[in-house]
Amino acid sequence: MTSVSKIETDELHLQGDVDRSVDPVFELDHVCHSYGRNQVIFDVCLSVWPGEVVGLVGDNGAGKSTLLKIFAGYQQPTSGQLKFLGKPVDFKTPADARALGIEAVYQDLAIVDQLNLWQNFYLGKELTKKVGPVNVLDRKEMRRKTLSALSELGLTRIRSADEPVWALSGGERQSVAITRANHFGAKLLLLDEPTAALSVRETRNVLSSIREARNQGLGVMYIDHNMSHVIPVADRIVLLEHGRIVRIIDRGDVSVEELQDLIAQKPNLEK
Ligand SMILES: Nc1ncnc2c1ncn2[C@@H]1O[C@H](COP(=O)(O)OP(=O)(O)O)[C@@H](O)[C@H]1O
Ligand SMILES: [Mg+2]
Repeated sequence: MTSVSKIETDELHLQGDVDRSVDPVFELDHVCHSYGRNQVIFDVCLSVWPGEVVGLVGDNGAGKSTLLKIFAGYQQPTSGQLKFLGKPVDFKTPADARALGIEAVYQDLAIVDQLNLWQNFYLGKELTKKVGPVNVLDRKEMRRKTLSALSELGLTRIRSADEPVWALSGGERQSVAITRANHFGAKLLLLDEPTAALSVRETRNVLSSIREARNQGLGVMYIDHNMSHVIPVADRIVLLEHGRIVRIIDRGDVSVEELQDLIAQKPNLEK
């Protein structure tokens, strides 16, 4: 029986099975990574399919954030190949990854405090309309679409797209960033500990926006040190140890306690 502490699993149910007969949205093929002379990733092979959440877990320093940064174009593998929808790719910068629809959501970086909600939502993708011969910002349409995208994800507390972003809770910020990725047709969503420092209620909202992104067909790679957050939303859980994948566990095959023991390397569990 999987225990999920205070998170309500029935609100988080995943629809349907992942179709692994198609090309993975993203693939690491025998990837190694070193910082200077310090090798931290060893021969990692990992695929994320469309509509799949891969939970990446492991002890501090295992290399989780480094792997995510390789997916996001922030770090280049020392050796090995990246593939996007079956085709080899070579990211020189995060912009290369973003151009293909890979969105990374970090704790604080995803949205800009000084801008209000709709400005954040449409940052870099502003809608315009023609007034006579000139293009002007279509503020009304951006306000309307921002509110409807947020309310579709259950962020109904938010009444106005003019709300300043600094007034949002940590969980609402994460959900806005995830909703934004979803809305603009991202293919792969990368999340590095998005629930750190969130309340139970906020965490539930973030987890439900992850599930929503997945059910709409995005591939998601999700890092969290809290196993009771990872287990309800992950289709597969990948356990990383000293830069190597040591286990890949299917949904439903592990409990919170077992996973915690695996990470802590309790000797009584067979590997
Ligand atoms: N920018 C960096 N420069 C040098 N070493 C780094 C850097 N980032 C991470 N490391 C090292 O790489 C290893 C893996 O770190 P990281 O990917 O952050 O692990 P995790 O996210 O699982 O805690 C650690 O030994 C860490 O000290
Ligand atoms: Mg990390």
